[in-house]
Amino acid sequence: MTTILDVARVSGLSTATISRALRNPEKVAAETRERVLKAVREVDYRPNMLARNLRTDRSFTVLVLVPGITNPFFASVTAGIEATAWRRGYSVLIGDTCDSREREAHYAQLVETRLADGVIQLSPDYVPDDQRRPLPCPVVHACGCELTAAPSVRIDNAGAARELVEHLLARGHRRIGVISGSRENPHAIDRMKGYHQAMQAAGLGLDEALIQYGDFSMESGARAARALAALPDRPTALFSMNDEMAIGALQALSQAGLSVPGDMAISGFDDIKFAAHTIPPLTTVAQPGTEMGAKACEILLDRIEGKNQDNEVHILPHRLILRDSTGGYPPP
Ligand code: RIB
Repeated sequence: MTTILDVARVSGLSTATISRALRNPEKVAAETRERVLKAVREVDYRPNMLARNLRTDRSFTVLVLVPGITNPFFASVTAGIEATAWRRGYSVLIGDTCDSREREAHYAQLVETRLADGVIQLSPDYVPDDQRRPLPCPVVHACGCELTAAPSVRIDNAGAARELVEHLLARGHRRIGVISGSRENPHAIDRMKGYHQAMQAAGLGLDEALIQYGDFSMESGARAARALAALPDRPTALFSMNDEMAIGALQALSQAGLSVPGDMAISGFDDIKFAAHTIPPLTTVAQPGTEMGAKACEILLDRIEGKNQDNEVHILPHRLILRDSTGGYPPP
């Protein structure tokens, strides 16, 4: 069986330094921590975690609550969290809440039994209120909305949506349909605000018939696109509030014999990997998912370790990615 002596042999460090690095990583230099972790991996050392956790009253684990684990955008946020946690000597537990409060409460209990030292919440609507028991550990929001409490990380969802709709307007579209997330979803609310701002600034009234509500899935995007394409005065462009719904919409329009962007332009939101590979490639908003996850994890671990009690809202930059589904760039 591998022991701490093997780690000492490979790393050239004393067992006392190795114990300190494993028990209190924040108390050793980053370079030492890296040497220890490298040797631990090399010899496959498995310290008695239970004993360590009892000694320190810490689990060195963070719990990530994901509203939908199959959404590639959340996979990129989780990848950023995992890479940061790994570098700082923590493990990651993932709870897929499927957007359900009941599941969220179930996973949140893990921190009450000390199975996790802190929580990163990916759902934008987590606000500790009267109905929720405050968690006995630090919580950081990685994909916040305008109403999300600090500490949190997010992009300017309304601003990004406004820029996207302004791009569609600049290409001459006036009837711009929306494939929204659910009415209550805070990201959908923020992104709808951006749509309204752009339409109003262009002097265009709001037509409720042009708005269809989905649930961020491809199937709901396809349903919404079919309904919008069937309108007597159908829109010439669609603003979909995420890429997955836009991909569903692309397929539905193609099945209906409509060409994109000729008959209808389509844009998405997120810039998941598949967005560049659809036919035609999808215009979208790139959210820096991996950076959002990494930043949220740094904030959480600093709070857990009592270093920096960051209590800010961090707004990371988004990018408009113009591709063929809206006729590319620049506008004519
Ligand atoms: O929850 C679904 C959507 O909200 C994701 O696709 C992403 O856009 C997130 O912000």
